[in-house]
Amino acid sequence: MPSLVVIGSQWGDEGKGKIVDFLADEAHVVVRFQGGPNAGHSVKIGEKLFALHHLPSGILRPSKISVIGNGVVIDPGVLLKEIDDLKSRNVSVRNLRISDRAHVIMPYHRLLDGAEERLRRGAKVGTTGRGIGPSYADKAARLGIRMGDLIDESALAEKVDFLIPLKQRILNAYGDPSRLDKDAIAREYSGYGNRLSEFVTDTGVLVRNALSKGKRVLFEGAQGSMLDIDHGTYPYVTSSTTVAGNAASGSGVSPLLLDEVYGVVKAYTTRVGEGPFVTELRDDIGRNIAEKGGEFGTTTGRPRRCGWLDLVVTRYANSLNGFTGIAMTKIDVLGGLDELKVCTHYLLNGKKIRTIPADLRALANYEPSYRKMRGWDELEPKRFERVLSKGFSALPEEMKQYVRFVEKEMKLPVVVLGLGRRRNEILDLRKRRWAHC
Ligand code: GDP
Ligand code: IMO
Ligand code: MG
Repeated sequence: MPSLVVIGSQWGDEGKGKIVDFLADEAHVVVRFQGGPNAGHSVKIGEKLFALHHLPSGILRPSKISVIGNGVVIDPGVLLKEIDDLKSRNVSVRNLRISDRAHVIMPYHRLLDGAEERLRRGAKVGTTGRGIGPSYADKAARLGIRMGDLIDESALAEKVDFLIPLKQRILNAYGDPSRLDKDAIAREYSGYGNRLSEFVTDTGVLVRNALSKGKRVLFEGAQGSMLDIDHGTYPYVTSSTTVAGNAASGSGVSPLLLDEVYGVVKAYTTRVGEGPFVTELRDDIGRNIAEKGGEFGTTTGRPRRCGWLDLVVTRYANSLNGFTGIAMTKIDVLGGLDELKVCTHYLLNGKKIRTIPADLRALANYEPSYRKMRGWDELEPKRFERVLSKGFSALPEEMKQYVRFVEKEMKLPVVVLGLGRRRNEILDLRKRRWAHC
């Protein structure tokens, strides 16, 4: 694996955190390259549950270098809470590095996120309210404050002096009554800068050096391919490029240095927030999957909408990312159902459709066409132990068929299979013989 990118193939929350935690064991460096505290990556180690927002999941293996790359937007107050939380649980953050080029989420970004959502009225995106969109907008408008500014008191004071009155006028125009206190914000953020300065560096140099020395670098995507600003279900997307290409520019390395890309495919589909969802289940099956899968947002606690696996979505994600393998997660959640469905294509007036259109009105009119599959019984604890020690061959036949069907449809091998929340509840299938392509 000299370098490996892990990308969500659906609408986020596929279980990227758990997969990265597993793969990080073999890596030297783990890099987050986009998104910000909108991400919520949960990792369960034994009975301990960790919820990470900015920090790469590699942070839970303290000997690894963990990098927050230039493409990430950082809310320093939230990041410091994450760091303090880990320290209080005896996880060292000594090997954390933060890019001096990463942009800072300011209080007015969070306020503007809320104000913009209110102004959208019927067409709310359903954002996480973390200030992601306004912060990336300021980056593109060249009105951003970067981590390098945050740790330099005079640079920060100068920027705040110019930006706060500007943002105050916009907030007023948007009908938000909040008053921004320039001095208080400068003091608060300069305090954050002081505390974070020990971690801030040119991480592009660090990652490039690591790769040139043959070190193994793992790039951890946030959100998912369907939330990509260009290729997702716009405008119901996030504000960054979530696909694999951004692992390079979001961390400052050449795209030629990305060797492999694993697509994380949840065995069913979920989505938080608004927007079309062709295979959504609004019935008891959907509610049962949500309950059993614990489908509540790691960041906002919002319930996630659930539906059958949609292969039009995951094949589209593959075409955008060039997956070299699939990390399938949460297949255990589907245990105990008599029958499962997998969407192989969409239908419109009897016509087969296999692509995701730019026009969401078109997408909303598509009907899912399903392949029915036989379900399997829940794995009893003894059987589960046997599966974990024996591997793929010990799985119920119907579960194997489900995996093989996805492999055949996506023309890709399932290289990792998640069978539970905990770190060890996973099968490494990278050595398994695979006969589909
Ligand atoms: P991420 O944002 O892609 O990292 O995913 P989240 O952490 O937001 O959501 C995935 C949820 O599923 C978390 O609660 C994980 O602990 C859990 N999870 C991950 N993989 C598996 C799995 O294979 N089986 C089960 N049952 N839970 C899993
Ligand atoms: P992880 O990394 C699921 C969704 C929000 C909303 C849209 C825009 O945990 O998979 P934003 O706050 O980014 O402007 O919200 O994107 N969203 C996510 N959904 N998982 C995530 O991250 C998400 N990050 C953002 O719910 O619909
Ligand atoms: Mg998540």
